[in-house]
Amino acid sequence: MKALVLAGGRGTRLRPLTNTSAKQLFPVANKPVLFYGLEAIRDAGIVEVGIVVGDTGAEVRRVVGDGSQFGLRITYLQQEAPLGLAHCVLIAREFLADDDFVMYLGDNFLVGGIQELVAAFTGADYSAQLLLTPVDDPRSYGVAQLGRSGQIVGLWEKPDEPESDLAIVGVYMFTPAVHEAVRAIKPSARGELEITDAIQWLVSNGYHVHSHLITGYWKDTGRVQDMLECNRIVLESIAPRVLGTVDDRTQITGRVVIEQGAVVEGSVLRGPIVVGADSKIVGSYLGPFTSIGDGCTLEDAEIEYSIVMNHSTVRGVSRIEASLIGKGVEVTPAPQTPRTHQLVIGDHSTVRIRG
Ligand code: G1P
Repeated sequence: MKALVLAGGRGTRLRPLTNTSAKQLFPVANKPVLFYGLEAIRDAGIVEVGIVVGDTGAEVRRVVGDGSQFGLRITYLQQEAPLGLAHCVLIAREFLADDDFVMYLGDNFLVGGIQELVAAFTGADYSAQLLLTPVDDPRSYGVAQLGRSGQIVGLWEKPDEPESDLAIVGVYMFTPAVHEAVRAIKPSARGELEITDAIQWLVSNGYHVHSHLITGYWKDTGRVQDMLECNRIVLESIAPRVLGTVDDRTQITGRVVIEQGAVVEGSVLRGPIVVGADSKIVGSYLGPFTSIGDGCTLEDAEIEYSIVMNHSTVRGVSRIEASLIGKGVEVTPAPQTPRTHQLVIGDHSTVRIRG
């Protein structure tokens, strides 16, 4: 069994952060979301992993390396343009050879791992296995309709009028039968070869596609609110540890991780929180479900339910919440007179200012 991990794509819903960085490397509790997937693959006993990369391939290669840090052997496969998930299977044909494989979308986050799912698939004679889970708004996902005995009746990619509330989770299991399917389908209206269409092709051509309903927590971290939610879930069960320095004027409650070299002075920290290595928190309030990256400075600031990435500064501003702050960002007060906002922000940013 091999794994094919998809870490390309444009990440348009997370712009401008995805203009300079791969969305699969965005931190959840200060660890790239992709790492959780790679660890799940390793824990399922898989060693050979192909990672499909696009424009941000250099960064993914640099951070993930040859896979030895995870106990994996990684081969990188370059996708020249984001032409769809089924296109990734096409270009991985040689790497996959005639092995069964797990296809794992690098921005998907699945609590509980894939060990049992992989074991169930290897022990069965299905051509493919899909994971499904009910969601509130299925229109942003692949959607499956099941028959009375649980068999797949139909699959649709991001339908305007979904036939069910069952979203297709971005973790698929395939036998080599999928190679014929990805060659047979045509690009969708958005110009991509959809894996959903390839699986529908398998169903229509009499292959046995098994669907498995998952009950555990799953998120596609493609949007800001999903990143923040995922961060919340991971922080909820984080093991507290203080490796940095905390002075006696600081109050800490709940689960808090303070990494090596971090300094916290005269602040209030209400966990769960993680503060990255060499960050400085002075005279500030950090509220629940907040991750502060490495080398950040927070001074006279208040922040809650947010992610701040490495080497950013937040100084002298009132409460920030539900925010995703990129790398090397500065948030500081504007001059008192005139009372204006001063903004230097990238294309496709979202800024909500209290008027
Ligand atoms: C992709 C798939 C979709 C699936 C989703 C899960 O969508 O096309 O069928 O439900 O992943 O994360 P994307 O997020 O790439 O638009």
